[in-house]
Amino acid sequence: MTGQPFHEAGAEPLGLAEPSAVIAFEVNGETVTQQVPARLNVADLLRHTLGLTGTHVGCEQGVCGMCTVIVNGQAVKSCLMFAPQLDGCQVQTVESLAGQDSLSPLQQLFADEHALQCGFCTPAFLMTATALATAGRQMTNADIRAELAGVLCRCTGYEFIVTAVERYLAGKGALASD
Ligand code: FES
Ligand code: FES
Repeated sequence: MTGQPFHEAGAEPLGLAEPSAVIAFEVNGETVTQQVPARLNVADLLRHTLGLTGTHVGCEQGVCGMCTVIVNGQAVKSCLMFAPQLDGCQVQTVESLAGQDSLSPLQQLFADEHALQCGFCTPAFLMTATALATAGRQMTNADIRAELAGVLCRCTGYEFIVTAVERYLAGKGALASD
């Protein structure tokens, strides 16, 4: 075989080193400074770099909603957000909800209303409902169903989830009459 070798062993591939960024953000009230690859998504940053495995991953393409967390007060699908976009943001994950030995009021409502079975979707519903409670809106039953439609549950049939979220929003003064 003649000509130059395509790539010499041990040499850095020209122009192919993955770019990275140093970002600072807040997660569950703690400041994090981290160097992140440009293509890392937020779900993987939370789970694999920070060990916050309560955020689940399903489709990794923005369809199932399993990866929902709160960024600057908005529920977002963290598989669709690149880690460098978190610079300067405030992030809230499901790990922020429970106390040392107790469930949060929202988690307790999910337990009381039997709003989970396998539980894989539950962190995403909890974070969606948490964001709704601080959105400054009066939500009807139809609004709640529309907002929760971004998270897919294969187990419960949704009715108990809607009931738990309705009770939670009622307690927050954010439930409107239909
Ligand atoms: S894992 Fe993010 S939407 Fe499915
Ligand atoms: S409780 Fe199993 S996917 Fe929702």
